[in-house]
Amino acid sequence: MEEREKTKNNTEMRILGFLCNWCSYGGADTAGVSRLKQPTDLRIIRIPCTGRMDPLFAFKALISGADGVLVSGCHPKDCHYSVGNLYARRRFEVLKDFLPFLGIESDRFHYTWVSASEGQRWQEVVTEFSRRIHELGRNPGFDMNTNLVNSEAR
Ligand code: FES
Repeated sequence: MEEREKTKNNTEMRILGFLCNWCSYGGADTAGVSRLKQPTDLRIIRIPCTGRMDPLFAFKALISGADGVLVSGCHPKDCHYSVGNLYARRRFEVLKDFLPFLGIESDRFHYTWVSASEGQRWQEVVTEFSRRIHELGRNPGFDMNTNLVNSEAR
């Protein structure tokens, strides 16, 4: 397998973050208001609950060339819709097992729980995930026409 292009330290990666409106979006906001230093690679999409997060959203992003997808929601038992995050956790575990069959490293997908008051935890999560994605390098994406990993995409 050919060596993938590694990013330079200052190269911005394409990381999507799907954050629950009630907890993690607030946690990211708390981190921002507290002026905690964070990587700039993440583009945040606010969702009502991780239970609303169809794994196909992450799958489509990754086969389209996103370098990483991070999902974060309320801690178990704190979900505003009672069990949305518990259903989500089951789906995300299946997705992680499924990604390698498409030639996508499962490490490009991560889910976690961060509450609105955990600005520092949010900073740690996003910093660690960004570091991991920088280590993995660019995601070549997936060519739907040939069913092959698209090594010439970039
Ligand atoms: S409301 Fe936040 S994960 Fe369900």
